[in-house]
Amino acid sequence: MTVTTMDWNAQIERIRAAKDSTALDALELQMLGRKQGVLTDALKALGSVPPEERKERGRELNEWKEKIVAALAKRRQELGHASLSRLAEDDAIDVTLSLPDSAHASIGHLHLIPEFIRQIEEVFGRMGFDVAEGPEVESEELNFDMLNIPENHPARDMQDTFWIDELPGYVLRTHTSPVQIRYMAEHTPPFRMICPGRVYRKDADATHSPMFHQFEGLMVGRDISLAHLKAILSTALRELIGRDVEFRFRTGFFPFVEPGLEMDMLWQSEGDKEGEGRWLEMGGCGMVHPNVLSNGNIDPEQFRGFAFGFGIERLLMIKHRIKDLRVFYEGDVRFLGQF
Ligand code: DAH
Repeated sequence: MTVTTMDWNAQIERIRAAKDSTALDALELQMLGRKQGVLTDALKALGSVPPEERKERGRELNEWKEKIVAALAKRRQELGHASLSRLAEDDAIDVTLSLPDSAHASIGHLHLIPEFIRQIEEVFGRMGFDVAEGPEVESEELNFDMLNIPENHPARDMQDTFWIDELPGYVLRTHTSPVQIRYMAEHTPPFRMICPGRVYRKDADATHSPMFHQFEGLMVGRDISLAHLKAILSTALRELIGRDVEFRFRTGFFPFVEPGLEMDMLWQSEGDKEGEGRWLEMGGCGMVHPNVLSNGNIDPEQFRGFAFGFGIERLLMIKHRIKDLRVFYEGDVRFLGQF
């Protein structure tokens, strides 16, 4: 083994000059590698050195080993810092750059149903309507009896209503109309209110869902007439749909109004041409039945009122020309992101 002092100094110089960490790794392997590192070999070769020289030679080699290990560590640290500061220069964030369009698209927004409910509250709010709420688990009495719906009325049918086994006498409300009674019991006329919310029925197809949304309206005063109802509804619905849709009123029977009307709108799905489409029932309305006013502690001899109840999903189907209401609940962002 003829490794001189100069050789080791030269190796240390190479370490100090290493360009990057890959070069440094290669040098480390060349010197300290367990199989072929030159220093490792020199240490192994100590065994063949004459005994009188062995101790001195071993001490020297171990000193060089320490110096080499220290030089490697120092250079590794320097290169680490250098690469960080270069990264800071090359990869600096320019906060003045505008974002690509895709970055904007990922910002969330309200689902179109709650968004539409806000709009309903705003449009009717501007016309002086208060916003009321009622429970979704409602007593059979308020959901049916107080609304003049007799015991044998088909609306109570097992097929439509969700009954609650654990809570006899209660149902998942089938409509927002019971809130009329709650509101009348707590307010003195004249007043006007709307009540948006979830309702439940055992129904499921392209235009029905077991859970859907309605909004109820009620206006009571001394000389309220059907003319007020028509004027308010046509103004509000035009504004909510955002364009001039065709609609029609026809007589309809609801036990809690007299006379009762149904309102249909022309439902055109995508692809339908001018004049095409079919009439879709949006909801019912009419003059509040005297029995219902009495049930709400309002004297029907002194006050009259109109009421209405509309399906929110159905209005949205008209507004956005949607074919199947099930898309509202599927949570597909490709659909929801369009609104
Ligand atoms: N509650 C009725 C339903 O869900 C809709 C309705 C009809 C509400 C007439 C009303 C009304 O307030 O006057 O089918």
